[in-house]
Amino acid sequence: MTDNKEQDTEIHPLKSEEGVSPASPAKKGVCLGGSRLFHLSSWRTVAFFASLFLCLTIVFAFSFIIPCPVRPVSQRTWINTYRDSSTYTFLAVTDANNDKVMDVIFAFRGSNGSLNASCSNKGFSPCSFLVAVTGTNGSVLWKRSLSHELLWVQCGIENLGGLEAAGCLVFNSQHLTAIDSRSGVTLWENNNTLELKQLAVKVPDLDGDDVGDVALIGSAENKTKVVIVSGKTGQQIGTDADPGLSDVSGHVIHVTSSGSYYILFKKDSAVYGYALKNIVAMAIKMPGSNTSNIKLQQDPKWEEMTNSTSGSVSVYNSGSVQHLLKMGIQGKTPENLLLVTGHWVELIDGQSLSSLWRVNITKVISEPVFGNFNNDGVPDVVVEDEIGNGTKKVVILNGSSGAVLWEVEMMSSSTSPKPSTVNTADNRSAFLFWGEVRGKTNTTVSLNQQDFLYLLHPSYPKILLELNNSTENIAAFKAVLFEKSRHACYVLLTGPTEQSETGSVSLSKRELKEDVTLSRVVRLSQEEGFSDKEVRDSFLMLQYSSSA
Ligand SMILES: *[C@@H]1O[C@H](CO)[C@@H](O)[C@H](O)[C@H]1NC(C)=O
Ligand SMILES: *[C@@H]1O[C@H](CO)[C@@H](O)[C@H](O)[C@H]1NC(C)=O
Ligand SMILES: *[C@@H]1O[C@H](CO)[C@@H](O)[C@H](O)[C@H]1NC(C)=O
Ligand SMILES: *[C@@H]1O[C@H](CO)[C@@H](O)[C@H](O)[C@H]1NC(C)=O
Ligand SMILES: *[C@@H]1O[C@H](CO)[C@@H](O)[C@H](O)[C@H]1NC(C)=O
Ligand SMILES: *[C@@H]1O[C@H](CO)[C@@H](O)[C@H](O)[C@H]1NC(C)=O
Ligand SMILES: *[C@@H]1O[C@H](CO)[C@@H](O)[C@H](O)[C@H]1NC(C)=O
Ligand SMILES: *[C@@H]1O[C@H](CO)[C@@H](O)[C@H](O)[C@H]1NC(C)=O
Ligand SMILES: *[C@@H]1O[C@H](CO)[C@@H](O)[C@H](O)[C@H]1NC(C)=O
Ligand SMILES: *[C@@H]1O[C@H](CO)[C@@H](O)[C@H](O)[C@H]1NC(C)=O
Ligand SMILES: *[C@@H]1O[C@H](CO)[C@@H](O)[C@H](O)[C@H]1NC(C)=O
Ligand SMILES: *[C@@H]1O[C@H](CO)[C@@H](O)[C@H](O)[C@H]1NC(C)=O
Repeated sequence: MTDNKEQDTEIHPLKSEEGVSPASPAKKGVCLGGSRLFHLSSWRTVAFFASLFLCLTIVFAFSFIIPCPVRPVSQRTWINTYRDSSTYTFLAVTDANNDKVMDVIFAFRGSNGSLNASCSNKGFSPCSFLVAVTGTNGSVLWKRSLSHELLWVQCGIENLGGLEAAGCLVFNSQHLTAIDSRSGVTLWENNNTLELKQLAVKVPDLDGDDVGDVALIGSAENKTKVVIVSGKTGQQIGTDADPGLSDVSGHVIHVTSSGSYYILFKKDSAVYGYALKNIVAMAIKMPGSNTSNIKLQQDPKWEEMTNSTSGSVSVYNSGSVQHLLKMGIQGKTPENLLLVTGHWVELIDGQSLSSLWRVNITKVISEPVFGNFNNDGVPDVVVEDEIGNGTKKVVILNGSSGAVLWEVEMMSSSTSPKPSTVNTADNRSAFLFWGEVRGKTNTTVSLNQQDFLYLLHPSYPKILLELNNSTENIAAFKAVLFEKSRHACYVLLTGPTEQSETGSVSLSKRELKEDVTLSRVVRLSQEEGFSDKEVRDSFLMLQYSSSA
């Protein structure tokens, strides 16, 4: 049918050209004033427009009807349960089967046969599996058994193995494997001797193969080492670089306003930044190696701040840093840095490193997350602050000023996962967090560690919707938009996380709308006059959005 349409449009210009050249003498005739001829030509105009209209109608009809892709049917909720298993706290969301619906990658330890897949090695029991399931219905897309106890998995690394799609890095006992997240097949392996406690970072292409490379940060004999491996082949580029640090507890890769890459190392007492250029120079220090293709530079401003003895920039030194996060603001090149110390949450400018705001806290119990409470384009910060005897305050801080925008006190349990947010179409976010609103039940504090999931939207700051409850240990939790601009859900992975324990591991996806319908309305103050049904209805009307 589409072929016909193309033929049609190809034929038409030919026709009109044919019509034009012999018509020119006829046109002259019209000018000379034959009324019959004039009549004929107006009929021709009518015929021309009628056929044009018909043509356009057909084109429009077909362009809307035929190419309309069959959208995969998503189940609102699904749950997969694996018995006699334990799980890891890892959960990644990516479109693994290219159907424009997000899929879930997770890992668990199961008995031989829990996935109808045999263990690859005999010595290791129970088996560890890395599994990708479809977001639509939870069916297994691919699974692979892992030969050793898993230490970490990191997904969403672009161009791994030179592929267009993003891949995953899996690290288990000195064995790093790059995996194609679409099929689960191995892209490359790297057997380095480092102990990699923390995730890898993506760095620009250093070996000139047009594929971005990967920096691994680990330790050997208590010293922090950086190993750079080719993103395409997994081969180490140069040797281990030793920036002269120890006891590093975390890192981020940071790009300054001039586009220079720095690795920021978090130690207990401070944060130090090292230019990637210098780290690469340490790795490729052998004479004869060709580094002319390495397009790296040092930021002029940061170069001035560099301590010539240690070669590092002191990014932060006013307190013991527990969390170091980057806070991106649309349209601002260097991301700002959010630091959590034992006593405060502080935002520093990503270029000048000056403090933007600082807020006192008691004890932050989870890594802060970002969301938009107001729609000023600056992400706001959700902090869970433990205030003593099993109570926590969930606080939303204005990302521009640090001022408290919203807070609630609730009972906390040690198993609560960190909050999660999902953007709504009004440039704000829906906030989801776990706990138990105080005074809800008069019974003695739940003996069986029950956790409730609450939904907050800034349009209704006095209302929380209680969506779900769980007595299981929650290993991972994430709010996710499964399809572009629609199907807002959350993914929940529950079950024992210790290797020695086994129990029922379950992975579930639940649509927010479904849970809102069944939710309980919790009023934080008695002011608002809406009925529970009205509240639920307005939450059901919320439109979600993939972009902030
Ligand atoms: C397990 O796999 C075998 C062969 O791979 C297949 O014949 C069998 O039906 C599978 N069982 C289940 C429960 O999927
Ligand atoms: C896994 O189970 C199969 C039979 O279901 C058995 O043949 C195999 O030896 C078992 N493997 C291990 C490592 O227990
Ligand atoms: C699950 O969804 C996938 C596509 O996402 C589809 O190919 C498969 O047939 C579905 N399975 C079931 C049991 O519906
Ligand atoms: C890494 O070690 C495994 C065995 O532990 C071996 O099978 C594999 O070939 C090694 N890979 C490389 C690139 O050395
Ligand atoms: C590493 O540090 C720990 C304490 O921080 C110490 O006990 C251990 O001996 C050190 N190991 C080496 C190889 O230096
Ligand atoms: C280094 O590589 C570049 C291109 O990749 C080449 O032009 C240059 O001649 C090489 N230099 C040496 C010393 O090999
Ligand atoms: C530079 O680093 C050295 C070694 O880390 C340290 O002793 C010295 O105090 C630093 N200098 C400044 C100005 O911070
Ligand atoms: C924060 O705590 C510091 C002491 O740790 C205190 O000097 C300061 O006044 C406090 N700020 C606020 C706003 O409470
Ligand atoms: C909780 O702490 C307050 C003081 O902060 C104290 O008065 C109260 O007795 C404590 N409650 C319990 C159950 O420990
Ligand atoms: C957040 O802080 C900025 C900067 O101080 C201020 O302009 C804005 O009004 C604040 N937003 C809210 C909702 O308080
Ligand atoms: C809570 O329990 C106490 C006694 O256990 C009772 O006096 C009180 O009325 C109860 N409050 C509510 C709101 O049920
Ligand atoms: C927990 O949720 C279930 C449904 O998911 C509900 O039946 C039950 O009443 C809830 N428990 C509490 C204490 O709210």
